[in-house]
Amino acid sequence: MIRNSNVKVDFTNGSLQGEQIVRKETRLKEIQNIFEKRVDESQVDPETIVYEVEYYSRGENHQPGGLLFGRSILHPGKVNDEYFMTKGHFHQQREQSEFYWGIQGKGILLLMDEDKNTSAEIVEPGSLHYIPGYTAHRLINTSDEVLIVGACWSADAGHDYDTILTEGFSKRVKNIDGRIQLV
Ligand code: PA5
Ligand code: NI
Repeated sequence: MIRNSNVKVDFTNGSLQGEQIVRKETRLKEIQNIFEKRVDESQVDPETIVYEVEYYSRGENHQPGGLLFGRSILHPGKVNDEYFMTKGHFHQQREQSEFYWGIQGKGILLLMDEDKNTSAEIVEPGSLHYIPGYTAHRLINTSDEVLIVGACWSADAGHDYDTILTEGFSKRVKNIDGRIQLV
C-alpha cells in the first residue's frame, strides 16, 4: 500500500504538523543567568518567551541510530546590551554533529570548541551550518524580527547544558553603540 507521510513540513517557516511532534518553550525567567548582566524587570518581563523548539521524534529520542528534525523560533529582544539567545550546549555525546539552516530572520550562530576557540556565522534564509562534534552551539537573534532556524541531529546526541552554564562561551554577541559585536 502506498501511503501518505504522517508529518508535513511547511518550508516557508519550518513548522511541523502531524504526530509525534515535541514542543517546548523557554521563558526568560528560566535562562536569566546566561546573560552577563541582571535582567531589569522594568525593561523586560521575565515571563517573556525567548524561544520555542519543536521537533519530530518518532519516539526515538535518545535511541542510537535515530534522527530528530525540527526548528527553533528565537524571538527578538534584548537583556541590556545582549540579544535574546538560546542556552547553548555541547552534545552529551561529544562526537555528535548537527545541521542548522536559516529559514526566516537574521542572527548569529556562535560556535565554541573544547579549547574555547570561538567562531560565529551569520544565519539568514538559506544559510546552511554544519556544527561539528565537540562544538558547543548557541543561536542569537540580532534582528527585530523572529529568527527561525531548522535543525537535524542524532536522537542520541543529548544536550549537555551544565558545561555552558558553569563555564559559558568565551565570547558574547552584544549591541555596542548600535552595532553588532563579538566581544
Ligand atoms: O538541537 C539543537 O541544537 C537545537 O534544537 C537547540 O536545542 C535549540 O535551538 C534550543 O537551544 P538550547 O537547546 O541550547 O536551549
Ligand atoms: Ni545541538
